[in-house]
Amino acid sequence: MSVLITGGAGFIGANFVLDWVAHSDEKIVNLDKLTYAGNLESLASLKNNPQHVFVHGDIGDVALLPKLLAEHKPRAVLNFAAESHVDRSIHGPGEFIETNIVGTFRLLESVRGYWHGLSAEAQTQFRFLHVSTDEVYGSLAPQDPALQLWPFALPREAHTAHDCQCLGGQAFAGVWRWHASP
Ligand SMILES: NC(=O)c1ccc[n+]([C@@H]2O[C@H](COP(=O)([O-])OP(=O)(O)OC[C@H]3O[C@@H](n4cnc5c(N)ncnc54)[C@H](O)[C@@H]3O)[C@@H](O)[C@H]2O)c1
Repeated sequence: MSVLITGGAGFIGANFVLDWVAHSDEKIVNLDKLTYAGNLESLASLKNNPQHVFVHGDIGDVALLPKLLAEHKPRAVLNFAAESHVDRSIHGPGEFIETNIVGTFRLLESVRGYWHGLSAEAQTQFRFLHVSTDEVYGSLAPQDPALQLWPFALPREAHTAHDCQCLGGQAFAGVWRWHASP
């Protein structure tokens, strides 16, 4: 068994990978484009660890993704890959649209194709986790659960292209969930 993480060389993703390897024996395949935000030094301690398989690539690469999924047969995909630096989204929103919306869409399509080839039981067990942002979900009250999947709305504190594109990617993830349903 394995899981596929995207953006696992980033700030949160790298910590997730390290935590995963510390607490599980399951293989973790890490697809990352290594933009300015990616840093493999964060994962230096895993250099010779076969449990961590690093793949340099883009979530929007529709030739690479099906190959990767077929080779490693993950039981879950965790999408941390994103343009995440809010200030950059103000001056250059194009990269945000390309990764956070178009890339997420292409990733979902690749995963949907893979999911359709799984057995009925594996389909039921399969999970796609899309990481979004509090600027989309809004702030949690103390009694709220840590994870809220649906519904979501663009809250008043959202005011940048980054926020809108996070919502766009999240919208794709939520809607594609239904597309993938038998
Ligand atoms: N850091 C925070 O405080 C915070 C808070 C709330 C939500 N989030 C969300 O969590 C997620 C991860 O955040 P982070 O802080 O780790 O981001 P980050 O910018 O540190 O890392 C993003 C990673 O994604 C990779 N990447 C970018 N485009 C890619 C592509 N097209 N294909 C493959 N890899 C690509 C980068 O190389 C990098 O390693 C994002 O969706 C972000 O919006 C982060």
